[in-house]
Amino acid sequence: MCICSTPKGRTPRGVDAHDVHLLDALSRLSIRPHMQLASRLELIEPSPTLAISARAAELKAQGKDIVGFGAGEPDFDTPPHIKAAAIEALNQGFTKYTAVSGIPELKQAIIAKFKRDNQLDYKANQIIISTGGKQVLYNFFLSVLNNGDEVVCPAPYWVSYKDIVLLAGGQMKLIHTTFESGFKLTPADIEKNVSAKTKVFILNSPSNPTGAAYTPDEIRALAAALEKFPDLIVVTDDIYEKLTYGVEFLNVATASEKLRPRTVVVNGLSKAYSMTGWRLGYAGGPAEIIAAMDMIQGQSTSNPTSFSQKGAVAALNAEQQCVEDMRRVFEKRRDLAFGLLSGLKGLSVFKPQGAFYLFPDIAGLKAAPGWADLAKRTGETDNGKIFSKGLLDEKLVAVVPGSAFGYENGFRISYATSDAQIEKGLGRIREFVQALW
Ligand SMILES: Cc1ncc(COP(=O)(O)O)c(C=O)c1O
Repeated sequence: MCICSTPKGRTPRGVDAHDVHLLDALSRLSIRPHMQLASRLELIEPSPTLAISARAAELKAQGKDIVGFGAGEPDFDTPPHIKAAAIEALNQGFTKYTAVSGIPELKQAIIAKFKRDNQLDYKANQIIISTGGKQVLYNFFLSVLNNGDEVVCPAPYWVSYKDIVLLAGGQMKLIHTTFESGFKLTPADIEKNVSAKTKVFILNSPSNPTGAAYTPDEIRALAAALEKFPDLIVVTDDIYEKLTYGVEFLNVATASEKLRPRTVVVNGLSKAYSMTGWRLGYAGGPAEIIAAMDMIQGQSTSNPTSFSQKGAVAALNAEQQCVEDMRRVFEKRRDLAFGLLSGLKGLSVFKPQGAFYLFPDIAGLKAAPGWADLAKRTGETDNGKIFSKGLLDEKLVAVVPGSAFGYENGFRISYATSDAQIEKGLGRIREFVQALW
């Protein structure tokens, strides 16, 4: 990216049209650009979730009573036995570098977890532990993609897939799912969109942002369709595996012996154990891909934090009641939030079967008499942004616009917050929507 000296495509202000996002981000930080930055920055956008959080923080600092539904993280404290294990590790001086791909003890705990929960057998050289599921995915895409390689991904998708793939030189091909299809793919969608030139297929169930979760039968049907492409690598992001409501979890590697040797299963501690800040994710997969990921990690962050790994050992090896306790609370909140948002004119609310998000479709709101005026007040043209900006400015509720996830007519609410906040925030959303009619 050339912020100050690109010879091509200058706007009258002397900036490249692609630079506008970065310039926005820099100006929010009061930074005046005068350096030449890498052109790869043209490929990606600053995280829209962070942009909403920054605006919400600004309003909060002005003393406004903001209800935040933006953050995708559990609001629970990390369970005490996990904290105790990390504290003990610190007290014992377990504060040095470890093996790049993680300590043997944690690899064994992950191997046992894969066996117990997913009936998958891995050896230690098929496991990597990284600084969050996000880094696992980063290592993965840098390890398998060459410039121009095609990655097929269902939309709506988790924001970072697109930017990671683009930074790794890949091209995203989206399969758009809809509210009507329950935000799910069919085997026919796969056969129509995946081809011999597709390098990677991404699956994420339960999904961020929709909360859609495939049933075991649906997974088996998708696996059968994916089996038809023998060179395809499948990456399944199972980070919300433990947060399902009435749907049994199954991943494609468990469902299909044929896919197993070319599937990378990504998971992490952040969501199930409320350990977002500990930064621990992991993957099981073919030894050659894992070795490549290890090499990439060895030249970036090296090992994940030593004492965090000891906490993760405790998390995975101990009794799993804390996970179930948190899941139950999320399920109750799902019911509360779904009930409060349902039945509003112009809003179609999908009942999620997993994760901790609601993803209402707002296509029907464009017919509301107040919509055009709202668009004018916000200065936005994208429907999700019109809704989200208006909601934040006028009702002090922070949500994430659907375009962040590749779906313009929607917005995401994270209900990983207290019942009181859910009631207050969704009450305001109800008023906001009703006032448009
Ligand atoms: C679908 C999905 N995958 C991966 C991650 C990465 O989580 P972490 O890096 O905290 O492990 C997230 C976090 O929001 C997510 O929603």
